[in-house]
Amino acid sequence: MVFDDTGFCTYDVMLSPKPREVEDSSINKVDRSRIKELMAFETKRFEREHPKSKRMFKRAKKSLLAGVPMNWMVRWAGSYPIFAKEAGGAHITDVDGRKYLDLCLGDTGSMFGHSPKPIVDAVKRQISKGITMMLPTEDSVWVGEELSRRFGLPYWQIAMTATDANRFSIRLAREVTRRPKILAVNGCYHGTVDETLVNLVKGRTVPRGGNIGPPVDPAVTTRLVEFNDVDMLEEALAHEDVACALFEPAMTNRGIILPEKGYHDALRKLTRKYGTLLIIDETHTICCGIGGYTAAYKLKPDILTMGKPLASGVPVAAFGISQFVADRVMDRILSDGTDESGLGGTLAGNALAVSAMRATLEKVITKRNFDKMMPLAERFEKGIHDVIEETGIPWHVVRLGVRIEYHNTPTPPRNGGEYDASKDYELENLMHLMALNRGILMTPFHNMALISPYTSANDVDFHTRVFRESVELLLG
Ligand SMILES: Cc1ncc(COP(=O)(O)O)c(C=O)c1O
Repeated sequence: MVFDDTGFCTYDVMLSPKPREVEDSSINKVDRSRIKELMAFETKRFEREHPKSKRMFKRAKKSLLAGVPMNWMVRWAGSYPIFAKEAGGAHITDVDGRKYLDLCLGDTGSMFGHSPKPIVDAVKRQISKGITMMLPTEDSVWVGEELSRRFGLPYWQIAMTATDANRFSIRLAREVTRRPKILAVNGCYHGTVDETLVNLVKGRTVPRGGNIGPPVDPAVTTRLVEFNDVDMLEEALAHEDVACALFEPAMTNRGIILPEKGYHDALRKLTRKYGTLLIIDETHTICCGIGGYTAAYKLKPDILTMGKPLASGVPVAAFGISQFVADRVMDRILSDGTDESGLGGTLAGNALAVSAMRATLEKVITKRNFDKMMPLAERFEKGIHDVIEETGIPWHVVRLGVRIEYHNTPTPPRNGGEYDASKDYELENLMHLMALNRGILMTPFHNMALISPYTSANDVDFHTRVFRESVELLLG
């Protein structure tokens, strides 16, 4: 790393290569010219059917950077984003009056449905009694007890976003271990945590393509491993400079990549052997059940983080720590320097968010709802599976609880590197646009669907029909 004479550090920013266009039609058996032809047709249809969104986007571009309140919103399929008018349960209506089956569900923030009644009631009750007071409320005690019961970790803190929960947890891990580095998985996503916006390229940890203003050379802060590779894991941990391994228990941001048999046992054994804390990020894998993947598969993390759906989309997140971690950080957390500790945020743990979280845990993220959602998720998976079998398109489908994803390879990738090598942006964009034009919202950047307690068997079958039509159109 080099410092120039203005004091800024410069370093060899070996950015990840740009996603390549998949030319090899043997990968997906789809003719590229057919994709272009269908894209032109679907784009015309999109523009014809969304004149109000078009006008709104034009107006928005004059005041909002890129015409949207957050940059990634321009990455939905279509010539411009559709502007939402309202949402309820499993459906969204846009400003052009078109109604969609929503399988994106705020990409997990609303995975238990848009504006569930118990949350609306709880928020209405609390909002007139104080929104944020810099004081704990009784709801926060209830929430702490419930999180301990579900996830098995004794002590909890409340944050505003999963990104923050992860950042704070990394700090705690560095504090406990006095080690600098963190270990993550190639292709992971844990929010805008600097240490994890990285890729593995030719064995080197480099800033992820598109990473805006990486603060330091990420090789200083991060070691990356490929998921499901135990030898690589041991090699990375054996340096004994890794404070924590921050892992999703199954990858959900490069499609869905499930852990192979024995991988979690090895991860726990090796992190203990080399003195590294294990942080499990359950933000997406809460789709496995009321205690997430951790409870379903009896994992034993030192720290567990979570956000997004915890208060049905009202911003809130949480992280839980073990007795071992608590014993080593308590004095520091309570010291005079609390304001400067790097944990916190004025609005964290506010009364409104915590009341919404209590209502969500009590009435929404329930076993009863999962019992309803799981069979529908299985039906959804089977629908896609049958279309793949019957049409012969060499794709596959994976399910993790109530989260389902299909991908354009015949067998599932084992890790982020394999996934990235097979990703077909053009094809994915077309599939999303075909779904949108037929009344279905898929999650942008994924071929992913979430089943909510409001999603019906009819909704699932509607998706299967649209998926079949899209595949048949693709195959010509
Ligand atoms: C696994 C995981 N952790 C954390 C986050 C960050 O969540 P947020 O953007 O709400 O901070 C995400 C976001 O997609 C995620 O997928």
